[in-house]
Amino acid sequence: MSGSEEWDENYRQRGRLWTGGVTGIPPLPPEGSILELGCGNAKTIAAVEGDARRITGIDISRHALALARAAVPQATFCQADARNLPFRDGTFFAVIAYHITGHLTAAGRAVLAAEALRVLASGGVLFVREFSTGDFRCGKGTETESMTFRRGTGIYTHYFTPDELEALFAPARLISLESRGWVMRIRGKDYPREVIDAVFRRE
Ligand SMILES: C[S@@+](CC[C@H](N)C(=O)[O-])C[C@H]1O[C@@H](n2cnc3c(N)ncnc32)[C@H](O)[C@@H]1O
Repeated sequence: MSGSEEWDENYRQRGRLWTGGVTGIPPLPPEGSILELGCGNAKTIAAVEGDARRITGIDISRHALALARAAVPQATFCQADARNLPFRDGTFFAVIAYHITGHLTAAGRAVLAAEALRVLASGGVLFVREFSTGDFRCGKGTETESMTFRRGTGIYTHYFTPDELEALFAPARLISLESRGWVMRIRGKDYPREVIDAVFRRE
């Protein structure tokens, strides 16, 4: 589901898929290495303040990684599946997972969560951002699993409830969880968007 072929094809045809600013990036630990899962064209990494040399981005799409390397040459990028990370246990002080977990099956989401926590150092923080069931796209397209919809691009998206997101990343300790909405205007019409931002700490 949402394998590298679909993502590669989207990046190949459309170039940088993710543009504009990234709002609400929380304060990251001042030192130590940071990993972003599913970094895409490095929109989030480009918005992180400070020395990008401590950041590693992984993505399943090699086309995305070429765009990411061009955007933030100081960071390290490698092609990898977030369900099978090529890093030792406890390598990173922070892991960012923005809009990747929701592009996996239920089984894949559980594996990603275990991998994200495995590579996180004890006391390290995990930042998760996903679309919620309050987003206007929830329900649009073909439902492939409960609350997971495939749209014309071939990409699948799962829409979360807050409880579901919290449960997925247990046993990490939940530090904060917030639903945040805004309005997106498309061809003169307003549509509600909604994400859940969650922060966890590995004990
Ligand atoms: C919606 S984009 C988000 C990009 C970026 N995190 C952002 O917020 O701008 C999802 C990204 O996850 C990547 N992806 C999807 N499944 C993946 C997997 N199993 N392992 C690694 N990356 C994956 C896709 O190639 C895509 O670049």
